[in-house]
Amino acid sequence: MPIETSVRRADPAAHQTSLLMVIVPQGEQPESLASLDQASGGAVGRLYAAGAFAGKRDQTAVLYPSGPAGRILLAGAGQRDDLDRAALRRAAAVATRVAQGMGVADAALYCVPEAMEPVTAGPAGQVLTEGISFGAWRFDELKEAPREAKDHLERVDLLASAEEVAPMSEGHAVGSAIAAGQDLARGLQMLPGNTCTPSYLAAVAAELGARHDVAVTVLERDAVTEEGLGGLLAVSQGSSQDPRFIVLEHHGADGPPIVLVGKGVTFDTGGISLKPPQKMEEMKFDMSGAAAVMGTFETLGRLCPRAHVVGLIPSAENMPSANSFKPGDVIRSHLGKTIEVVNTDAEGRLLLADALSYAGRFKPSCVLDMATLTGAVVMALGHTASGLMGNSEELLADVTTAAERAGEPVWTLPLWDEYKDLIKSDIADVKNSGGRPAGTISAGWFLKEFVDGFDWGHIDIAGTAYSDRSSPIMGKGPTGVGVRLFSEFVLARQA
Ligand code: BES
Ligand code: MN
Ligand code: ZN
Repeated sequence: MPIETSVRRADPAAHQTSLLMVIVPQGEQPESLASLDQASGGAVGRLYAAGAFAGKRDQTAVLYPSGPAGRILLAGAGQRDDLDRAALRRAAAVATRVAQGMGVADAALYCVPEAMEPVTAGPAGQVLTEGISFGAWRFDELKEAPREAKDHLERVDLLASAEEVAPMSEGHAVGSAIAAGQDLARGLQMLPGNTCTPSYLAAVAAELGARHDVAVTVLERDAVTEEGLGGLLAVSQGSSQDPRFIVLEHHGADGPPIVLVGKGVTFDTGGISLKPPQKMEEMKFDMSGAAAVMGTFETLGRLCPRAHVVGLIPSAENMPSANSFKPGDVIRSHLGKTIEVVNTDAEGRLLLADALSYAGRFKPSCVLDMATLTGAVVMALGHTASGLMGNSEELLADVTTAAERAGEPVWTLPLWDEYKDLIKSDIADVKNSGGRPAGTISAGWFLKEFVDGFDWGHIDIAGTAYSDRSSPIMGKGPTGVGVRLFSEFVLARQA
């Protein structure tokens, strides 16, 4: 069960709770903690006086005070000059992650005014809620004996003053809808390839459509063939799992839609251009773009913003077999351009190419695609930022702004004409790999060849979709990246 959150008007010094989490900025004990210090029998003051806690980013301290809170967990948000949405979101996640290991079922979270001030109560309500659910996320569905429910944190109340309650509650409504989308995305990402197949993704989409005012259409193999989605068909050809092409639509306003495309490769072995075995299990995460789109529609379904949004998820499993497509094959894309397949491991761009040209039929205001597309983006940007490319400066600027608000940073790579030669083919219109140099950009250029008449942005999340080590905000595993970015982008473009 995902964590429950709500906003409560309460005085942190008088609030009865088994655990009070307190977010503070770096520096000396904030003045606003005087009454909590008193209520705690001076425990807060002694901690600061001992120099044992300074509110540094990711720093936490646990106190066993007297008074109405069973325990107090102080969490640092970092330097005052750096306090922003991201800092508050992160501190809430760090605190909740620590709390998740403390064996309490419910807790309260209080952000001191000294930390909240630069953000204001509304947005703070949103990002604290996002942070709480990010830090609380866990996955034990596939364990035979899941941990006892009593060991889990089940709910967190955000404490607000009389003036803060209304704006914080508004922010909380947005934050909890985004949190639900993020949880859905992470759950899907985490599922192994033998569960999360293209047909499974389609079933989850259909179920989402039944719960919300979201129209869902699924093209199965025959329809995919009839549509001429040649890239999607080629990738799925070696697998016993049939492909799916999933279309979601939130019709909250009239006018041309925003189209969101997500790569849905439910497992990427590389196909005949087989990947080496080390860490191949991580390729269950190759549907993270699809998870981001699905999660975003969960958020849209809950918030019902005045926006028209279409989601497209081309989904397949990339396997080697006697039926597989192979290096040298030439395939015909949905747009009509022919593609020489020089590497069957460059499969994502093949099914994305079809989705991008399919998007044209909606006469979109813009199209954004998100994909775990290249290992090269990990070399370029590591696990900190996603790679961004596109054909419109204005759209790239809007995506960058949404990404900053979301705390999911992107960095633009140059899609210059000079790079286009990398994907020149001797036999077809384009080839699907430009080799190692500028691998992320040549993939971007490949996609651009299938963008016909609309503003487009491409986000490569191969380095940000999951983490192979734990950090203060999360354990090893999926990040749900993209849900917050897409949601902020859509909310900023409301009619
Ligand atoms: N799914 C991979 C990219 C990837 C790599 C995702 C690492 C997450 C972590 C993609 O399909 C792929 O295999 N790309 C190739 C392209 C190459 C053959 C041109 C790559 O990056 O090596
Ligand atoms: Mn691949
Ligand atoms: Zn892939």
